[in-house]
Amino acid sequence: MRRKIVAGNWKMNKTPSEAVALCNELKELVKSDSVDVVYCVPAIDIVPVVEAVKGTNVEVGAENMYFEDKGAYTGEISAEMLVDAGVKYVIIGHSERRDYFKEDDELLNKKVKKAFEAGLTPILCCGESLKQREMGVTMDFIRFQIKSDLDGVAADQVKDMVIAYEPIWAIGTGMTATTEQAEEVCKGIRDCIAEMYDEATAEAVRIQYGGSVNAGNAAELFAQPDIDGGLVGGASLKADFGKIVNY
Ligand code: PGA
Repeated sequence: MRRKIVAGNWKMNKTPSEAVALCNELKELVKSDSVDVVYCVPAIDIVPVVEAVKGTNVEVGAENMYFEDKGAYTGEISAEMLVDAGVKYVIIGHSERRDYFKEDDELLNKKVKKAFEAGLTPILCCGESLKQREMGVTMDFIRFQIKSDLDGVAADQVKDMVIAYEPIWAIGTGMTATTEQAEEVCKGIRDCIAEMYDEATAEAVRIQYGGSVNAGNAAELFAQPDIDGGLVGGASLKADFGKIVNY
């Protein structure tokens, strides 16, 4: 049985003091014995949030990282820095990073490998655009992303990671994929992992759905056999996140 994992993706929201206030507001609401809870927060919020969630069931994630160890990469943050600050997870390849910051699969593959090397658990995002869905190439495109981003990654590593299926057209739009659409692609991703590795790896890897997850649709989405939780944007910034965790 895979344990569900519900992660908030705060994106570029909350100053450090606002972040601490949100942690305090959510503290009682996100308590759970059965679900892993993660807050993926802006880099500057990491240190205060790690402090604020100490002694709770919440783990902290970063929204991005760079693949080099150290050096002249102005503005970037290394995996080692994240680990030292108490971070456990890192989102890699969110569609906003792929789109606005031109991160390609070759770069993301390097980030995934470095995250594992440092002891971080990657939450690798994939997902199609509306145009790709309309063209009927959704699964072809996602298989390409998964195969490229996991090139050279070992089965034992994949077993421990998280993959987030986030259709771009459903992110921040209020237009959630139907339960059937979400399950179909999450199952397709699991089948792809089985082909690339083996059944045991495919059975172990946790696959989240993301894209306008809210307190009203989480239960039905998370009940699907291949959906192991969610990556939640907008709704992770309010009390609703507690309802999603305790769907
Ligand atoms: P959303 O964002 O829940 O606001 O649609 C999800 C995400 O981008 O991870």
